[in-house]
Order: sequence, then C-alpha cells, then structure tokens
Amino acid sequence: MEKVTSGFVFLTVKCKTQNLKYGYSIPPQNSHWEMISMGVLKEEGPIPYSKGLEGIIAALSAISAIDGMKGKLVYRGIPIEMLAKYSTYEETAYLLLYGELPTKNDLDDFSAQMRELRYLPPKVEECLKELPPNPHPMDVLKVAVAHAALYDPDRLRCCREGVMRKVLRIIAQIPTMIAYYHRTRIGEDVVPPDPDLNHAANFLYMLHGKKPDEEEARIFDVALILHAEHGLNASTFAAMVTASTLSDINSAIVSAIGALKGPLHGGANERVLKMLDEIGSPDKAEEYVLNALKEKRRVMGFGHRVYKTYDPRARILKQYAEYLSDKYNDRRYIEIGKKIEEVMIRELGKKGIFPNVDFYSGIVYHFLGIPRDLFTPVFAMARSVGWAAHVCEYTANNRIFRPRAYYIGPEYVEYVPIEKRR
Ligand code: SDX
Repeated sequence: MEKVTSGFVFLTVKCKTQNLKYGYSIPPQNSHWEMISMGVLKEEGPIPYSKGLEGIIAALSAISAIDGMKGKLVYRGIPIEMLAKYSTYEETAYLLLYGELPTKNDLDDFSAQMRELRYLPPKVEECLKELPPNPHPMDVLKVAVAHAALYDPDRLRCCREGVMRKVLRIIAQIPTMIAYYHRTRIGEDVVPPDPDLNHAANFLYMLHGKKPDEEEARIFDVALILHAEHGLNASTFAAMVTASTLSDINSAIVSAIGALKGPLHGGANERVLKMLDEIGSPDKAEEYVLNALKEKRRVMGFGHRVYKTYDPRARILKQYAEYLSDKYNDRRYIEIGKKIEEVMIRELGKKGIFPNVDFYSGIVYHFLGIPRDLFTPVFAMARSVGWAAHVCEYTANNRIFRPRAYYIGPEYVEYVPIEKRR
C-alpha cells in the first residue's frame, strides 16, 4: 500500500444494510461491500476521487473553452462558428499556437513554413511502402511520426524556436504520411505536396491525385478547423502527460495518436458510417437505436463528457453533410442519421446525450472521397495543432503529472514459500 504520510485513507463503503466509515483500513474482503466514495484526508481536507478524472481541473489553459451546458466552444476567445465561417485551418493553427490571429505577413510566413515542411524524409517514404498487410491506419501514423522524428534536423533542439520548428514539421507532415500510405496501399504512385495549395486542399490533392473542387476543399478546411482543438480531451491529455516528463514533442504526439485511435474517442467517426450501413434505411433506424439502448450498447457519435447539449461542431458538420448529400443526390446516410438523432434525443436528451463531433463528420468525409478507415487519421491530422498547443502551453510552466490511486487491495499478506502453496 502506498505510505500515505500526510493523512489517512478513509473509505465510505456501503453494505446492503448499513453505511460504515473506515479510517485507514480497507473494507472486509467479503463480496457484499461496494466502494461508493473514497478520499484521502489531508490537513486541508479530502482529495477527491473522480473516475476518469471527470470534472477534475488538471491544468490552467487559455487555448480553448467549452460551455458544455450551452453548447459553446471558443478558440482563444473566438467562437468556433466565426472561425468556421471566416478562417482557414492554417490561420486557426497560428491562432492556437501563438494565441492571436496573425497579420497578413505573419500568416504568409507561417503558411510558407508549413508548405516547406510537408515533405517526408526518404526513409519514411520507404517505411510506408514496407508495412505488413492491412495495418490499422492509426498504427501506421504512430510508426510514421516516430520514424520521422529520427530524421528531424531539429530533433536535438530544445529551445522554443527549435520546438516550434518540430511542431510545424509534424503538423505539416502528417497529411503527407496519411496520403502517401493510402496511395501506396492502393498501388498508386504517391503524389508530392503542391506548395500552391493550402493545408486542406493539398491533402485532398495528395490523396486523390487531382486538384480538389474548390468548394469541397473549403468544406474540408472547415472540418479541420472544427477538429483542431478541444481542451483536455483524452488524446490531448495523453500528449500533456508525456510532455510533462520533459520527453520530446514527437513522443507526445505519438502518445496522443494512440489515445485518439480508441472508439470512445477519435475512432467513433468510422463506426458511425458502419452503423449507418448496418441500419440501411431510415425506417429501420428507430428499431436499431431502441435495441442498442435496451442492450446497453453505445450509439456511436452521441454523448460527451463535457457537452450535455448539442455539440456546436456537430451542428456545422450536419449542414455540410446535408449540402453534400444534395450535391451528390444521395440522401441515404443523412436521412438515416437524422432519424437516429431524432430517436436518440427523444430517448436520452434528458440525460444530456446529443450528437457529438463524430456523428456527421463521417458523412462529410464520405462525400469528399476519404476512405472510411482514414477518418480517424484525418481527425489526428487536424488535432495535431491542439495537441502541440497544449504541450507548449503546459510545459512553459511545467509540473509532471502524477495523480494518486487509492489502494483497495489487502493491507498485509504473509509470504508463503512456493512448496507450501496450494
Ligand atoms: C470525441 O473529450 C472530448 O472533447 C472528445 C472529443 C474531442 O473533440 O476531442 O469531443 C471527440 O471523442 C467525441 C466522442 C466520440 N465517442 C463516441 O461517440 C462514443 C460513444 N459515446 C460514449 O461512449 C460516451 O458518450 C463518451 C465516451 C463520449 C463520454 O462518456 P462519459 O462521459 O464517460 O459518459 P458515461 O460513459 O458515464 O455515460 C453516462 C450515461 C451512461 O448511462 P448510465 O450507465 O448512466 O445509465 O450515458 C450513457 C451511458 O450508457 N451514454 C450512452 C452514450 N453515451 C453515454 N448511451 C448510449 N449511447 C451513447 N453514445
């Protein structure tokens, strides 16, 4: 048991018949006890225990703010709706990293740096051609980012300028990694980055091998803005924990990619499309949802740790999903999606379960021709700037993350020699 010097562990446990309070002891091992709340008493009072750190403040940040009850999101104080309407991913990336909107000269310089840094080291390109069959694209991204770090000319630089150079290189290279991997796996030649295209348009160009429709490039640019940053979500927190040990930025980004891969986080968007295909038509949506809820299964793309109302990003993505469904004269997915939304809000809206960013993003990406298993890598491509911004902000006033756990195992057990064990 971890020696708790400055207080003692108290456990409030409930057996079926009475509430008992234990000080510095552990509940009897019999099975009918269940832990309902615990805390470590310190001079100034108990330290809270909150599963999954729900509601716990782990950092001070000026990068973004979420009002989960009103469904509002601001980046550096600017409402996401304004950025979606007027900004670009490159301008938003500058805002998130440097804390203010760039002047025209600043943006031109930042954008020129990003375009110069898009290219991959030859060894990384080769590595993307020598992968085992059918790897998970997020595993490929982890490998590529870690591999690229070995060839980063600034890898040994720890000064702020050096770190920012590494940050821009990672943000600029991730789209190229994803596109090169995809082109290689389908047996097509890789398409080198086009310095005349912005971040969003260049990715679609490298992925499809042809210049994107301007309108669709703009829709993708907005999708990247909407996914760029979202406070201390699991993948951002993973990056911060890694960086708080004073490890390097590439290691922090690899940690974040691993966390984002999970279906409860960034992996949900791909599963939403799979669910829409399973349902097949709007008239089957209600039965599917009611069965899922009855079986306590999660309906992907709904619910959020912070939003207890409609995710403002989902509102914007839904509009684009509608628009593209009409443009391509294929309303199958959007009609099923809207029916699922109607049933989920009727059934769980009172519990604060509403569509989140992942529910409509997949429909948008589908019409932009992005393969389904690249939806989460695209999320990582956008969120790389949020990860980097929080790592830079937190390490500027760093303290290593080291939370506590309450030991609930046996307080003392005799060591029994192996010959005497039964
Ligand atoms: C992202 O943190 C971020 O900001 C993340 C993100 C970002 O930009 O970085 O916004 C991106 O990750 C969005 C979320 C994508 N994931 C999904 O869509 C997967 C499905 N959603 C969930 O599993 C869930 O809602 C979470 C993980 C998103 C949030 O989980 P919480 O806050 O831990 O909520 P919970 O699991 O405690 O659920 C509370 C209740 C439970 O019911 P009871 O046990 O109380 O009866 O709500 C229910 C849950 O069963 N519930 C759902 C549900 N989500 C929650 N029921 C059905 N379907 C769902 N989707």
